[in-house]
Amino acid sequence: MTLAGVRVLLGVSGGVACYKAVALARGLLKAGAEVQVVMTAGATRFVQPDQFAAITGRPVYADTFTDVHRIVHVEVARQADVAIIAPATTNVIAKFAAGIADDLVSSTFTCLTVPTIVAPAMHTEMWLHPATQAAVDVLRGRGTIITGPGVGALAGGDEGPGRLEDEDVLLDAVHRAVGRPTIAEPHPLSGRRVLVTAGGTRERLDPVRYLSNRSTGKMGYAVAAVAAELGAEVELVSAPTALDAPAGVTLTPVESALDMHAAVTSAAPDADVIVKAAAVSDFRPAQVADQKLKKGTFGAGEGGTVVRLVANPDILAELGTRDDLDAVLVGFAAETEDVEAHGRDKLARKNLDLIAINDVSATDAGFGTDTNRVVILGREGFRHEVALTGKREVARVLLDLAAARLRS
Ligand code: CTP
Repeated sequence: MTLAGVRVLLGVSGGVACYKAVALARGLLKAGAEVQVVMTAGATRFVQPDQFAAITGRPVYADTFTDVHRIVHVEVARQADVAIIAPATTNVIAKFAAGIADDLVSSTFTCLTVPTIVAPAMHTEMWLHPATQAAVDVLRGRGTIITGPGVGALAGGDEGPGRLEDEDVLLDAVHRAVGRPTIAEPHPLSGRRVLVTAGGTRERLDPVRYLSNRSTGKMGYAVAAVAAELGAEVELVSAPTALDAPAGVTLTPVESALDMHAAVTSAAPDADVIVKAAAVSDFRPAQVADQKLKKGTFGAGEGGTVVRLVANPDILAELGTRDDLDAVLVGFAAETEDVEAHGRDKLARKNLDLIAINDVSATDAGFGTDTNRVVILGREGFRHEVALTGKREVARVLLDLAAARLRS
């Protein structure tokens, strides 16, 4: 692969990962590119501009007021065929999304009309902050390519998502970006109907008590939100949660597995993709008392009372048997042991196209967390691991994979 003659604008913002931008500049040059570097003031505290100048054989700009008569930010943006901002800090990402142009890198960004890659690098907390995630979504929606962050060791001995992606990944992103349209082509899910379920169903015992599970609905809501942002028409059938319905999503609230079964059964024939992220209670009390059960009902002492439970329908398995459905069927598996084997078994048993397998015994993934780590398996033998990252990122990967399996 060559970048011979390709003019790459490399924007460097101030993070510990700046030193890796030096290697990236060298990698780009080795591939044949011409590299023009612009830096934020913060970046110049980590790496001297002269370092880049010596490598690239070009002047490096870090100040909007250098050579004012040339209007450098406009000039360098116009001369680029492709741009990459690496590392991109939370600060520059927020500025890019908001259109703030108060230094050379952000001013240059607002002048770019060529394919642009943003490679985030920051601490996990900053990456997962809703402000950063929202800014990244805005940029994605405008066609900016977001590459990374990777997962691994971070400054200060921490570990998690936030590492600048490896040089080969960034070089590959530049290769692939060359010649791409700047404004994103519509995502294949655009205009398609996506049905998502979320939350843990509640199975009533009496008017004030129920059986449920630890699901908070975060994963399903993330899937619904991302699908809507990709242009899909989204119906979210949700068991009770503490979450607000994502923008642009039609919410169908349900309580029990039977309610969810009815809602999903009627919506399924119109769906192009069905993602079942809900934790459906597998059983419910055989009898629901009309009145609150009084203490005395259960007797005194340790003998207790037996509450008879009956099985709920397996909504997903039932969908898998219906040949009137065209939808790409995506399930989740919540497992605590032999995680992948059990997930693989559910993929086959429920006749799914894709399954995302969660180890719900982990503390940083599964129920209630903002992050997740899944193994995704496909009907055709496909396997893909998503390392620990935000639930929205997991949702995006899953939706891209579902979109690739859309039926005509
Ligand atoms: N599911 C469903 N209806 C049920 C149970 C599960 O639609 N009654 C769906 C879930 O939404 C999820 C998938 O099936 O997409 C797997 O759910 P999970 O709880 O992991 O597995 P179960 O099928 O309940 O199996 P087990 O309890 O044996 O692990």
